[in-house]
Amino acid sequence: MNIIMGKQRLCICLVILFFGEVSLQRCTNLRLQLSAINKNNLELLKNKMRTNLPLQCLSDMRDFIATQDTLRKIQTSLEENPKVAIHEIFQQIVQIFNQNLTETAWDENSMTVLQTGLHQQIQHLRTCLSAEMENGIPSPRSQNVQLTRLRVKRYFQSVDNFLREKQHSLCAWEIVQMEVKQCLLLVDRLANRIPN
Ligand SMILES: *[C@@H]1O[C@H](CO)[C@@H](O)[C@H](O)[C@H]1NC(C)=O
Repeated sequence: MNIIMGKQRLCICLVILFFGEVSLQRCTNLRLQLSAINKNNLELLKNKMRTNLPLQCLSDMRDFIATQDTLRKIQTSLEENPKVAIHEIFQQIVQIFNQNLTETAWDENSMTVLQTGLHQQIQHLRTCLSAEMENGIPSPRSQNVQLTRLRVKRYFQSVDNFLREKQHSLCAWEIVQMEVKQCLLLVDRLANRIPN
């Protein structure tokens, strides 16, 4: 009986080792993959945006300054947990682009490309993050992780509010897309902080 139990335990350990190994291997390229996908998404986004903000949007822009300021303020703290921050930023961008897009230049195909890229990276990051958690990272750090997510969520909440208040108008979308571009540039900087 003991021998059988022992064998089972050995098998389970081997399985855990094997999958642990696989997920670690996949995570070693995380930084490069994130940078590549992010570059693609930036290109896609730039193609859908106007080069300059239309003059009629300047007054809406004034209503957005506080939100822009928030991104600038939280940047440094996000660098403490770059993977978590990127994971949350991508999830929030998915939500933003799930809204009423009629006033934007996005068509279904290009939006699917953007969303698919984001979803893949969200999955990838989730795998890497859960592998790290299994390595027994203690709770002061997990509190810090929660705080990082909260900061990102609060910031995107105000982006979301702005879009809704402005009824997903052309100006609101132009301004929000400029901001999403800033977020993707931030993701690039955050990705550079992930150890290789
Ligand atoms: C989407 O937004 C446009 C522009 O504000 C508006 O005219 C349209 O009614 C909205 N559509 C839906 C389904 O809410």
